[in-house]
Amino acid sequence: MIVTTAVRDYLDATRPRADPLLAEMQAHGARERIPILDPQGGALLHVLARAMEARRIVEVGTAIGVSTLHLARALPADGELVSFEIDPERRGAAQAYLDRDGLEARIDLRLQDARAGLAELTGPFDLVFLDGVKAEYEEYLDLAVPLLRPGGLVAVDNVLMSGTVAENESDGHWTEEQIATARAFNERLLDHPQLIATITPVGDGIALAVRR
Ligand SMILES: C[S@@+](CC[C@H](N)C(=O)[O-])C[C@H]1O[C@@H](n2cnc3c(N)ncnc32)[C@H](O)[C@@H]1O
Repeated sequence: MIVTTAVRDYLDATRPRADPLLAEMQAHGARERIPILDPQGGALLHVLARAMEARRIVEVGTAIGVSTLHLARALPADGELVSFEIDPERRGAAQAYLDRDGLEARIDLRLQDARAGLAELTGPFDLVFLDGVKAEYEEYLDLAVPLLRPGGLVAVDNVLMSGTVAENESDGHWTEEQIATARAFNERLLDHPQLIATITPVGDGIALAVRR
């Protein structure tokens, strides 16, 4: 746990309730143990995308589309979100959910390894959200930074791994190797010469970095 129980309970009790579609997606994620963005993380991304009036967004790791939904709902009607996923079943589920929200015109869900897909994109993008395999984060970052406009934002999920990254000790879920990789990634992000970065304790830890 990253914040105290009282803080977590307060945040849960006061957050706006999920609409029926989002609630269905969250239930799907819980039922099939698919790791999806938590509600506070989703709200944070949505608020940030709206605040910066993002028009072009890239996402690594669609899963069943929960974070995609939060981000795409922040786009204007002629906005664009490209999202990469390597699991065809998850991508199919995401497409079906997002179609039901009328977002299909804004969303380009690609069944492709993001490391190949990012290399094929042409910037500038306003916002990049990284949420694929944690061991690949450095590769995603290297490919994503050149795609960002100056002032564009990189958001990265799970950078605190249930708090284990700070404790530097496995909890049985996050392994020592994953924790060491995350610590190295966080250091690199915070020291990145082209970025101004910070780590927030929202959800499972979300890093935010703006391109200089
Ligand atoms: C944590 S889940 C994404 C959750 C989603 N962003 C959300 O918040 O609802 C990570 C997803 O990344 C996908 N993935 C793993 N490696 C990938 C890669 N190299 N390129 C694209 N997707 C990848 C996995 O199949 C998995 O569905």
